[in-house]
Amino acid sequence: MTQALSSYIPALTVAASIFFICTLRGLSMAATSSKGNLCGMIGMVIAIACPFLQRIFLSSQNDISWQILVPLTVMGVGGIIGLCIVKKIGMAALPQLVAAFHSLVGLAAVFIACAVFSAPDVFGIVGSHLDNIPTSNAVEMSIGAAIGAITFTGSVVAFGKLQGFISGKPLRYRGQYIVNLFIAIVIAVAIVMFVINQEAWIFCTVVLLSLIIGYLLIMPIGGADMPVIVSMLNSYSGWTAAGIGFTLENNLLIIVGALVGTSGAILSNIMCKGMNRSLISIVLGGLSRGSEQAVSSNSGERKNVKVCSAEDAAFIISNASSVVVVPGYGMAVAQAQHAIKELADILKGDGTTVKYAIHPVAGRMPGHMNVLLAESNIPYDDVFELDDINHEFGATDVVIVVGANDITNPSAKTDSTSPIYGMPVLDVEKAQTVLFVKRSIGSGYAGIDNPLFYRENTMMILGDAKKVVENILKAMKG
Ligand code: TAP
Repeated sequence: MTQALSSYIPALTVAASIFFICTLRGLSMAATSSKGNLCGMIGMVIAIACPFLQRIFLSSQNDISWQILVPLTVMGVGGIIGLCIVKKIGMAALPQLVAAFHSLVGLAAVFIACAVFSAPDVFGIVGSHLDNIPTSNAVEMSIGAAIGAITFTGSVVAFGKLQGFISGKPLRYRGQYIVNLFIAIVIAVAIVMFVINQEAWIFCTVVLLSLIIGYLLIMPIGGADMPVIVSMLNSYSGWTAAGIGFTLENNLLIIVGALVGTSGAILSNIMCKGMNRSLISIVLGGLSRGSEQAVSSNSGERKNVKVCSAEDAAFIISNASSVVVVPGYGMAVAQAQHAIKELADILKGDGTTVKYAIHPVAGRMPGHMNVLLAESNIPYDDVFELDDINHEFGATDVVIVVGANDITNPSAKTDSTSPIYGMPVLDVEKAQTVLFVKRSIGSGYAGIDNPLFYRENTMMILGDAKKVVENILKAMKG
């Protein structure tokens, strides 16, 4: 009976895989992201249940209880710790949290490879000789251990840099790439030697050198490129999981690992395009023009800025028939999204068209602005990506730029010396009036001056974004 029930395990594996694919599909759009998350949770429950069911169905041993109880207890404790961490963590700290979790995936891969190497028969891996691991398993195991070790130290360094434990400054030295290349070649040779000889010291060398290269690859990367690196490490952790899946002959782990690996790589590529960076150069470590190299283009000459009051802004906005809101990092800092929503509701009530323009790298992490706007129940249909709205600015009466800067900077299109040159930007200057809501005329993340502040059709309302928008609201209501 139990043997017959075990035949359902492959079907459950397929079901979980479908749920995970639906998760990725759902998460690709803000409107369907909650459903995507739900699919992920269902898929995960099935994925966790499968090995337990397999144990119950296939095992005839009497000591089955500890094989179930021990992992359940460990998972329970882990789940409680995870819950406590997630409850404490704020939106701004999500990138480092993700980096920390990736490091655990890498470490798990190294531990599993070590366990398989020391007791292959326990995992059902038996070669032609009793002390021999089949070649295919030895290849998967050593590559999995190497990627896992790189993911571990790389993620620990990324976490340290994002959390401020390690300086965000890139660590560079002469001959860096030659050293990295040399270590990579030694790792590759050691993997081949391990597959042939299967000696413990060679396996340890692979792991040790991979730990070192993980550190060396991430240390030269500056703060500006860190989110891309976190996304790349996400991709590595996926490949690591797929590697473990091959070693343990677990199909679900292979499928999920491949999904995470490819989606992470695609996300990294999208982020690189949005920031006009080369993915290859970032992955190789510090070859990119990071914002740490940015110098302010502000020449120091006095330029005129038109500063207006909340009442002026309320008057301009009330007389507009089309308004586009451009949110940026400052909106996240000020938590101004709810006030923006209230403002938009009033405008819409008066027949004004209100849209939101989202730049792919607005804020400090992918989808940062989408999450904030969704939090304040702004309808998804009003939110537009850069490519979908850029042509509309010419026909827009008022653009309200809330705590954004670099993503509107036109020097990205015109100044080849600018560190953000080539980055696609929102063409807000084409609108009749641009209202900048920020605390000063200071620069944004890239540390460069924004020529938009001095344009004829630009007005600045200086102050904390939330307070400024609330004041505009008050003026409008009054
Ligand atoms: P930024 O260029 O960083 O500009 C944000 C502006 O918000 C600042 O100029 C700041 O000016 C203002 N601000 C800060 N706190 C504020 C507050 N409480 N109230 C009002 N304004 C406030 O942001 P952006 O336009 O969103 O562009 C994103 C930048 O981050 C890009 O350079 C991008 O390459 C980079 N980046 C993005 C990511 C991802 S994945 N999104 C990852 C890493 C880096 P004041 O100080 O004058 O107020």
